[in-house]
Amino acid sequence: MTIDYHSHILPSMDDGARDIDESIKLLSVLRSQGVNKVCLTPHYNVSGTVSEWDKNRKASFEILKNAAEGKDLPALQLGAEVLISKGISNIENFEKLIIEGTDYILLELPWRKYSPWMSEEIDSIIAKYKVTPILAHIDRYLTWYKLEDFFEKFDFADVVYQINVSSLKSLGFRMKVKKLMKKGYHIVFGSDTHSIDERPPHFDLFQKHIDKNTVENVL
Ligand SMILES: [Fe+2]
Repeated sequence: MTIDYHSHILPSMDDGARDIDESIKLLSVLRSQGVNKVCLTPHYNVSGTVSEWDKNRKASFEILKNAAEGKDLPALQLGAEVLISKGISNIENFEKLIIEGTDYILLELPWRKYSPWMSEEIDSIIAKYKVTPILAHIDRYLTWYKLEDFFEKFDFADVVYQINVSSLKSLGFRMKVKKLMKKGYHIVFGSDTHSIDERPPHFDLFQKHIDKNTVENVL
């Protein structure tokens, strides 16, 4: 079973798929790359209330489900990519951001120098909602933080680290990922696809370079 843990495929929801045609194209590409299930994770970054955002997400999901019906496409699961910001753990209706039917949540770290409030917010989310974090595209931060610093600062019980499959293009990075997996870090993969032209899915790299038997799925 190959799962895409991170995608921006819901039509007209965020900076991802612009319309339903693009959504279906992205899902077809993922299917052709051997993906069985896709977690739909539009951005949530506190620019509006969660309930308003959730209403839009449900409407977008309905359109996608109807268009996908009867087609050979991956199964779909609703989630969110939640940007860690100060106070995020206390916002109203936060629980709607948890991946549907699970106790996992996809969290995106802010693109800035580390401050302790970042891990404190994640600790609060874990304690308050009894969820396990999946940290989005850690490949971005591993080029920035020192490897050991990153894992020391973002070490939570059962934490899962998500890697963007596009980063597997680099041999050096692939070796790093394999080492982490061997060491027992819990690693899953995502396309983080946004569009057909600029940010298409690259699960072909996952199929080529990662032994599926070594990936332990959580969804
Ligand atoms: Fe993303």
